[in-house]
Amino acid sequence: MAYNNSVNTIKTSFLNPHLYLKYLTRGWVLVALIGQWIFAVYIFVQFGSAALSGSPTSADTSGMIQGYTDGDDLGNAILALHLLPAILLSLSGTFQIIPYIRRRYPVFHRWNGRMFLTLGILGALTGLYLTWVRGSRLSDLGSIGLTLNGLLIPLAAVLAWRFAVKRQYQNHMRWAVHSFILINGVWSFRLYLMSWFLVNQGPNGNTATIDGPADIALSFASYLLPMLIAEIYFWAMRQKSILRISIINLFMLLGLIITIIGVIAATMFMWLPAISN
Ligand code: HEM
Repeated sequence: MAYNNSVNTIKTSFLNPHLYLKYLTRGWVLVALIGQWIFAVYIFVQFGSAALSGSPTSADTSGMIQGYTDGDDLGNAILALHLLPAILLSLSGTFQIIPYIRRRYPVFHRWNGRMFLTLGILGALTGLYLTWVRGSRLSDLGSIGLTLNGLLIPLAAVLAWRFAVKRQYQNHMRWAVHSFILINGVWSFRLYLMSWFLVNQGPNGNTATIDGPADIALSFASYLLPMLIAEIYFWAMRQKSILRISIINLFMLLGLIITIIGVIAATMFMWLPAISN
């Protein structure tokens, strides 16, 4: 009897697609955490350490579109306001979507969430300023995907915040996840672009002004694809059909594989070479 029970438990566990969904999601969160921390280390070494040592102007911004510009005090200040909070954003965001931390440390979740959403909105507004007022863009066409990303961030963040205040936690979680994806859109874009170069063994449909067909598609996909996968995930959680959840698991697996390749490619080709110079 006991033997039969344990065999049944093992069978139902192994055949339970919800379990795979859970592990695939956990796997993705872990890879995202590692990837975002590597991005944070890059931003800190490249820009943050100079600011911390008291001479922000000594940061090497020569690899940027415009970077530090002599005489443009306002533009330089906004650039600093754009770059420095990005360190905190990349360090703190993933904590918000880990259920254990939400349950065990609700006060931390609340304060970290307020900080994350506020800095996310700040990043979007300063980014829009840099792109369209300061003129730090490589091309108009190539900036549209990022601009829509910047416009959607405040929208999603305000919704996530309002639903939390109203204690509508289902809606809060949905918009908090979309905020997380949108605020990390620039991180995902780097992952997707570098994966694209890796898979194609170099540029393919890309231009130096990031307005090639592949650049434009990737600039939108970097947040629209994860947002779609998140919606499919929420839908999957309400499903009972094994077939449907198994199909969703394939999407989640795809998301996980893209993220793993992206983190490796962006670290090897972008962040590591930049900070080891
Ligand atoms: C809120 C999330 C965002 C984060 C965490 C973020 C982070 C960063 C980082 C780390 C850089 C330095 C790039 C590098 O050295 O590789 C950067 C540059 C830049 N970002 Fe963002 N960004 C965000 C949103 C945006 C948005 C929404 C826009 C535009 C609508 C934008 C526009 C820019 C521009 C134009 C630069 C280059 C500035 C220059 O070269 O002078 N960012 N961002």
